[in-house]
Amino acid sequence: MRIFSGIRASGAKTLGNYSGGFRQYAAMQEQGEAFFCIVDLHSITTPFEPEELREATLDLAALLFATGLDADRSTVFVQSHVHEHPEAAWLLGSVTSFGELRRMTQFKDRSAEQDFVSAGLFTYPVLMAADILLYRTNVVPVGDDQRQHVELTRDIAERFNQRFGETFIVPEVMVPEEGARVKNLQEPERLMSTTRGAPQGVVRLIDPPDVVRKKFKSAVTDSGREVLHDPEKPGIANLIEIMSVATGESIPEIEARYDGQGYGPFKEDVGEAVVALLVPIQHRYQELRADEPQLRGLLARGAAKASETAAPTLEAMYERMGFVRP
Ligand code: TRP
Repeated sequence: MRIFSGIRASGAKTLGNYSGGFRQYAAMQEQGEAFFCIVDLHSITTPFEPEELREATLDLAALLFATGLDADRSTVFVQSHVHEHPEAAWLLGSVTSFGELRRMTQFKDRSAEQDFVSAGLFTYPVLMAADILLYRTNVVPVGDDQRQHVELTRDIAERFNQRFGETFIVPEVMVPEEGARVKNLQEPERLMSTTRGAPQGVVRLIDPPDVVRKKFKSAVTDSGREVLHDPEKPGIANLIEIMSVATGESIPEIEARYDGQGYGPFKEDVGEAVVALLVPIQHRYQELRADEPQLRGLLARGAAKASETAAPTLEAMYERMGFVRP
């Protein structure tokens, strides 16, 4: 089974990104042949700064390895290092309609937020389809917000196969279970995100231990009787969820362990559990990030492996579409 996912290098990554993303990637590399792509070409579709793009790309690479991706097992690479991606995207543009792209929810939302709506933002999903289809991917693990893009990818694959002959595998989307959605510690009704919500409630993967402890100490619990198991209490439910992410224990186990105890000590324990999770990740991250030649070496290995897989698919696309090859 082949797995492909693309990850955007945007902002400082959070505990939410760990729970719904990095943690799943590390688990997925055990389940099949996995490709993880840092999608820098997608990053330029919304406003960006060149120097930040460069840093964010390397930061994300280091974080992917630090959270458990193994360069011997998975292929971790940067999208712009593999020229097959933008080439395939151009070709797929011919089997994608204006109407389909115009209907994409993410395009509608993002273009409403900006003065300058780039053509790249509009064709974003075609590049994403190229990412996925070049690898003859079976499964695409993504967040719920990307489901529509993967569905479009399936339509594009089917259309291409029908028009030019069987070339692509029609991929399945895989959205990790709802349980993995970490909320803002101050506003437990909203997802933990770097761009929205109270910053005090956002735990960054590179926050120093004392900052992490402080954020958990001031986490919103809910007023009323201190009962751990109560679906009406989103603050507590979120902390239990986070405890489960940090320790691997099940929710009922945690509820049983803390049954009848106060919220104060529980919040502190969750903070400590998260510190214990993050400290080794931060050590590996700093080590990798400090040695840029080594990090670039790992990415070069990934790009070579990726290109080896993508090149024959791109060649088949050109051939079947009637291009005269050099
Ligand atoms: N669009 C995805 C996101 O914003 C990132 C992405 C790009 C992706 N290419 C991909 C995800 C291919 C899965 C497969 O999260």
